[in-house]
Amino acid sequence: MPASVIVGGQYGDEGKGKIISYIALRDSPVAAVRGGVGPNAGHTVVYNGKTLKLRMLPSAVINENIKVMIGSGVLVNPNVVLEEIEKVGSQSRVIIDRLCGIIEEGHIEKDKQGYLKHSIGTTGTGTGPAQADRVLRKAKIASDIKSLQNIIGDVSLEINNLLDKGKLVIVEGTQGTFLSLYHGTYPYVTSKDVTASAICADVGIGPKKVDDVIVVFKAYTTRVGEGPLQSELTHEEISEKGWQEFGTVTGRVRRAAPLNLDLVKRAVILNSATQIAITKIDTIFPECKGVQELSKLSDDSIKFIKILEEHTGVPVTLIGTGPGHDQIVDLRVK
Ligand code: GTP
Ligand code: IMP
Ligand code: MG
Repeated sequence: MPASVIVGGQYGDEGKGKIISYIALRDSPVAAVRGGVGPNAGHTVVYNGKTLKLRMLPSAVINENIKVMIGSGVLVNPNVVLEEIEKVGSQSRVIIDRLCGIIEEGHIEKDKQGYLKHSIGTTGTGTGPAQADRVLRKAKIASDIKSLQNIIGDVSLEINNLLDKGKLVIVEGTQGTFLSLYHGTYPYVTSKDVTASAICADVGIGPKKVDDVIVVFKAYTTRVGEGPLQSELTHEEISEKGWQEFGTVTGRVRRAAPLNLDLVKRAVILNSATQIAITKIDTIFPECKGVQELSKLSDDSIKFIKILEEHTGVPVTLIGTGPGHDQIVDLRVK
């Protein structure tokens, strides 16, 4: 039952999209299923020179042989998902769980004003208000929506059947550990738990079906929206280091700070990580740009990776050396 769960270990935007796209092309799973909150996520996938930004579909969609699904715990904006399906041309292999909660215009309006916008700094995509309606049992679900009828199904059953047949399935998380409603920097968090166990619950698989939990970290820390960020750098310091980034969904400037090893350790514990993926190593060590072999990484970058392993007791198995899906060093046991 080889299920691999991939989640973020910081404040989102760790580069999960890039790591997942590599795994989807390299390991050829039969299916990928997305958990997480909803279209507040923005994954960037750079494949064959093209940049694809995804908010709803699993990033593994770039492998045309993979079935892609959205678990019932995820909130769906029908317009966003239908647009993405059209853009990627993936309708015949998409299944949205019939029980996914639906984001409506009113949820988006509420998310773009008052406390949520000004105090929390949400993405304004309607996920928090829609989640509140789901808890109040007032939200619509996917089976109520006419435009989704051709793509709805029973995702949890599909996934469990594939796992029972021994097929490889990727379970994709979104956001990051410290944006979790329960384990993050409350109240500056998203509207659900987003650690590995919650992602599994979102898609309907139990803990015994998970083999691997890959926690993704960026080589430094970024955060968008309000909330604490230890050792936060100024805009000038961020641009001197070349760490500037803009939000995939909102275009907001991402705040930044050096890697926080204590948070890394805590994320490893909260997600019961079996492997660590680290992205943007090329941003800290430019000499590593595009490297695909361990022997070509610089001594300094290897020292940095060793510190991470020693501090967490978990092996670093994937090392991102550029935004392209294949700009990566893969140290997994083959
Ligand atoms: P959320 O689901 O929103 O949390 O997003 P995400 O984890 O998929 O990350 P996102 O795509 O929002 O941000 C990561 C950024 O880093 C993107 O611009 C990626 O193209 C880029 N990126 C990812 N890995 C690497 C890497 O190894 N090197 C470089 N230079 N860029 C990378
Ligand atoms: P919400 O999830 O839109 O309610 O926003 C709550 C907080 O989580 C804000 O700080 C957002 O910037 C942050 N957030 C939500 N989703 C993401 C994501 O995918 N990447 C980074 N930050 C996110
Ligand atoms: Mg993102």
